[in-house]
Amino acid sequence: MMVDRELRVQKIKDGVVIDHLRAGTALKILEMLGVTGKEGFIITIAMNVPSQKLGTKDLIKFEGRYLSPSEVSKIALIAPRATLNIIKDYQVVRKERLALPDEISGIIKCSNPTCVTNHEQHVQSKFRVISREPLKVKCEYCETVMGQEEVIRRLT
Ligand code: CTP
Ligand code: ZN
Repeated sequence: MMVDRELRVQKIKDGVVIDHLRAGTALKILEMLGVTGKEGFIITIAMNVPSQKLGTKDLIKFEGRYLSPSEVSKIALIAPRATLNIIKDYQVVRKERLALPDEISGIIKCSNPTCVTNHEQHVQSKFRVISREPLKVKCEYCETVMGQEEVIRRLT
């Protein structure tokens, strides 16, 4: 096999590779992270590339930029089966399979304006995941159900 012909995107030296994204989710993730390309670090986005596991997939590579725990939690909301690879000096030094927990605290604001979590500063928002793909969450306090688009709009 001619390996040269298989190379679609370059390996990176240091940074993070967000892999195994369902095709169509890469741009959503960048938008959600607020990454526009004006930040100065190198971003590689591949969309609809062939994948053994998924048929087709998207993937994102950031060079010299890593992810905070809250960014990782947000990615898990849209891509609950993604893999994060931390790259140091061309090697994958850490591989983390994302998982969406059954409950999400703090990173989403409830869409119900009268919800207690929008009025009492000491009450942190808390949602139960009632569906994963597509995402649906339910507020533990007022039982409001929010879908993926709404959740993305209300990330804190
Ligand atoms: N990668 C990269 N730069 C590196 C090393 C790896 O961009 N220096 C990318 C690879 O292209 C791949 C991902 O990081 O998209 C994970 O790399 P690796 O673990 O080597 O690949 P696989 O074994 O195929 O990963 P998995 O088992 O998670 O599918
Ligand atoms: Zn609520």
